[in-house]
Amino acid sequence: MSSEPEVKVLLSRQEIAATVNKMAADISRDYRDRNPLLIGILKGSFIFLSDLVRQLDFPLEIDFVAISSYGRGRTTPGELKVLHRLKSPIKGRHVVVVEDIVDTGLSLAFLMGYLGKRKPASLKLCVFADKPSRRRVPVTIDYPGVTVPDKFIVGYGLDWDEKYRNLPDLSYIEPIR
Ligand code: PRP
Repeated sequence: MSSEPEVKVLLSRQEIAATVNKMAADISRDYRDRNPLLIGILKGSFIFLSDLVRQLDFPLEIDFVAISSYGRGRTTPGELKVLHRLKSPIKGRHVVVVEDIVDTGLSLAFLMGYLGKRKPASLKLCVFADKPSRRRVPVTIDYPGVTVPDKFIVGYGLDWDEKYRNLPDLSYIEPIR
């Protein structure tokens, strides 16, 4: 008997591409002449960010942050930490945060607060997959992709114990029985 969970496709690579194209069109409309700074959150956003920026044909810059994960249960946004800092100041910049998934919202509530204190000219949020059923704190997604059910999502950058990030389709795993 295998100890690996069963992996099922939620959103095919073709459906992902169509979603990214639409998000890129919306961002292009708003940022074409603003030289935005797109900030990816490590590690999960790395594939989505890569797909997104290759659909944006105007000047932009890219940076990354990493924030600490939290265990299930009692954590609040105030307990999170920035592990990998931005390389450039964001004061006066038009910033778009690019994230793979919002679950409880704790990570983004913390990060948007952290970035907002650094006085960007504007600060917006672009999220590929939204799992609203798990939300604990409100998060405003300016550029939403798809809504996903309350399943353990993997692939397209998302992991299970660091595995499956490389799956080209957005997928989910069934619990091991
Ligand atoms: C995942 C995901 C988000 C966060 C969302 O990151 O990439 O950053 O969880 O969850 P939340 O809305 O409940 O805060 P994770 O901590 O698994 O790290 P990773 O990006 O390195 O996979």
